[in-house]
Amino acid sequence: MAEAIAESIKAPVFAITSSEPAIVEDFDVLILGTPVEGFRPAREMMAFVERLMKTEGKKAILFCTYKLWKGSVFKILEKKLAEKGYRVILSVSKKGIKLDKPTEFSGCINKILEALKK
Ligand SMILES: Cc1cc2nc3c(=O)[nH]c(=O)nc-3n(C[C@H](O)[C@H](O)[C@H](O)COP(=O)(O)O)c2cc1C
Repeated sequence: MAEAIAESIKAPVFAITSSEPAIVEDFDVLILGTPVEGFRPAREMMAFVERLMKTEGKKAILFCTYKLWKGSVFKILEKKLAEKGYRVILSVSKKGIKLDKPTEFSGCINKILEALKK
């Protein structure tokens, strides 16, 4: 999903598991995505967000993938990002990715494109 978004908006994509949180410094908008695990963001995402430096004036867009119920994933990330000084302008989710079919991300991507125009 991250790659589909990155390709549509012509933005670079980074794996949070192998990137230093300092990479966000070069950007005004951070688009962060995670699978839902136990109704929460993946542990790796929480670790990344915890390590982000405090900022002012940056925006964030969140996305998640999940199978049945996304639980508090956005609430948890929105709170953490607000503590770090980010303004979350959009949260989008994709339910039920099936590995045997190409997944349609266009609904989410269109919402992201709209939010970035504002
Ligand atoms: C340890 C673990 C916990 C999960 N917990 C949830 C959950 O609480 N709710 C849910 O809807 N899906 C849950 N899932 C399903 C994942 O969210 C789903 O596999 C993922 O979003 C699909 O993305 P992927 O194709 O990148 O793996 C869980 C998956 C794993 C491995």
